[in-house]
Amino acid sequence: MTAAVEIIEVGPRDGLQNEKAALAARDKLRLIEMLADCGLARIEAAAFVSAKKVPQMADAAEVVSGLPMRENICYSALVPNMRGLRAALAAGRLGEIAIFTGASESFVRANINCGINESINIFRDVVAEAKANGLRARGYVSAAVFCPYEGAIQPAAAAKVAAQLRDIGCGEIAMADTVGRGTPQTVEKMLRAVLAEVPAQSVAVHFHDTFGTAIANVACALEMGIAKTDAAVAGLGGCPFAPGAPGNLATESVARFLREQGIATGINESKLKKAGDFILPLLGKR
Ligand code: HMG
Ligand code: MG
Repeated sequence: MTAAVEIIEVGPRDGLQNEKAALAARDKLRLIEMLADCGLARIEAAAFVSAKKVPQMADAAEVVSGLPMRENICYSALVPNMRGLRAALAAGRLGEIAIFTGASESFVRANINCGINESINIFRDVVAEAKANGLRARGYVSAAVFCPYEGAIQPAAAAKVAAQLRDIGCGEIAMADTVGRGTPQTVEKMLRAVLAEVPAQSVAVHFHDTFGTAIANVACALEMGIAKTDAAVAGLGGCPFAPGAPGNLATESVARFLREQGIATGINESKLKKAGDFILPLLGKR
């Protein structure tokens, strides 16, 4: 198993996008600063998406243009199309964009209002322009094991989309269990198919923790040579277009789990706890 794991913090985006409480941009920035202080080297900070669809991300430009710049921190944002990319580039301060499609036609349509192949065509140009502007590109495959509309997803379907994202230039592919229905058995089958297409160093996993299986799923990914996992501070999160998708795997849980196995993450867990203690009351959760 790997000696070090990279944790990609997605709380400020995936965590906050599903919260009822409207958070001020300054509070989002304070949270991001606290997360940066924890030693998290990659933070997904915002999403340049339709404000009608996801009002919680309407202030993406304000958040991104105010990001606390630190050496060795790469900030990322979701972009759904060229318009989102242009806004992200104008805001500056990002090292990476994340585009997002999925392994289920129904989920992709509910989420971004187009089919899978159509989304790949849109993202081909977005990725090319992002890279031409010096940004890295990550691609998400949502509903990679289970779809809230279609049920179980065939591993081959997830692998096919991962390969399409590789082909359009994504340097990292994040395989996402959007509704948290994956188990080590189904995750292993999905990842085995993906790893036949994409090398392990270019694969990350993104687990929601609906049934408490996210840590076991991370362990399964580690066994398969994958050393990058997404997580959200305080286990915040969910997708507004995936009924029943609650919190992400908590950063606190995965940091602790890895430390106990002697795997380095570079995270200061007591500072991480402070970040959780800061954000939960603002969301009315404590
Ligand atoms: P559309 O639905 O096809 O409609 O948009 P449109 O193109 O006619 O645009 C709708 C409105 O959005 C229009 O405004 C556009 O101007 C505007 P109106 O004329 O009605 O006032 N618009 C934009 N506004 C800001 N930024 C933009 C942008 N583009 C259009 N970039 C679109 C398609 C994808 C934009 C829309 O459906 C959308 O924003 N969907 C939201 C997607 C989203 O944020 N989903 C949640 C994140 S994904 C996720 O959580 C999964 C993940 O965590 C992995 C996992 O767990 O599975 C990543
Ligand atoms: Mg997610």
